[in-house]
Amino acid sequence: MLKGIILAGGHGKRLYPITKVMSKQLLPIYNKPMIYYPLSTLMLSGIRDILIISTPKDINNYELLLGDGSDLGIKISYKIQDKPNGLAEAFIIGEKFIGNDDVCLVLGDNIFYGKDLPKILKSASNELVENNESIIFGYNVKDPERYGVVSFDSKLEVKSIDEKPSKPKSNIAVVGLYFFKNDVINFAKQCIPSSRGELEITHIHNQYLDQKRLNIKILDSIFWLDTGTHDALAEASSFIKTVESREGKRVSCLEEIAYKYKYIDKNKLEKIISKSLDDDALYLKQLIS
Ligand code: G1P
Repeated sequence: MLKGIILAGGHGKRLYPITKVMSKQLLPIYNKPMIYYPLSTLMLSGIRDILIISTPKDINNYELLLGDGSDLGIKISYKIQDKPNGLAEAFIIGEKFIGNDDVCLVLGDNIFYGKDLPKILKSASNELVENNESIIFGYNVKDPERYGVVSFDSKLEVKSIDEKPSKPKSNIAVVGLYFFKNDVINFAKQCIPSSRGELEITHIHNQYLDQKRLNIKILDSIFWLDTGTHDALAEASSFIKTVESREGKRVSCLEEIAYKYKYIDKNKLEKIISKSLDDDALYLKQLIS
């Protein structure tokens, strides 16, 4: 089985003052809280057992928003990251939750959208469980220095993954969606804090790379939206608004995914519809009919 973790921690300092009292991953992206998008990514991957990790200050708000997940036919549990010690700490905090399973980590501020997304996610989930390799995704960006970056050797073989390099060796950024084998827990425990004091996820990538167990897939048929700056946040909202109004459908509608993936049945969806506001009710009703 495959478990899922959403990491929704951090101070969000780059987005001050809007994140001064409000957790970044609860900010609205057009018509829903940001965390709905990564949650939909896990649900589309077929993952129904999910751990949300956030700060001591914010964890209650996530629980108020999403509860135990039963409304969506999934199971959500919660854990605290005391300090922003780095992404790799998620696997140490989540060790008991992961148990003997493989795990998909998605960052709470990463938004993916595209027609091929469900197919890509399902096949990554299947490949992960069937093989002994971990899977990460690369995406071509114009500002790679803001991300983990893939560096290639002269034969175009992947040489290393570098965290926020000042001189990036390619434009391929590593997105915040990782499918890891269970031994990621051991790799995370072996991490030592980097110069910025964090347990870096790139350290884990490089350990898999050294063992020739890292599969890097390039995402070129879907969009990866950034939310790291004020401009990026506004652009993500207007992107989602444009898609939804142009195509007349919802992006990352959790109830829709839960119903289509048979996590909830028609009765349950009807109950949700009866409690929904007009617009939502109308949209969800169309699914049943
Ligand atoms: C993190 C990772 C980085 C990755 C990025 C994707 O950076 O450390 O390797 O490319 O997420 O969003 P952060 O944005 O947390 O600084």
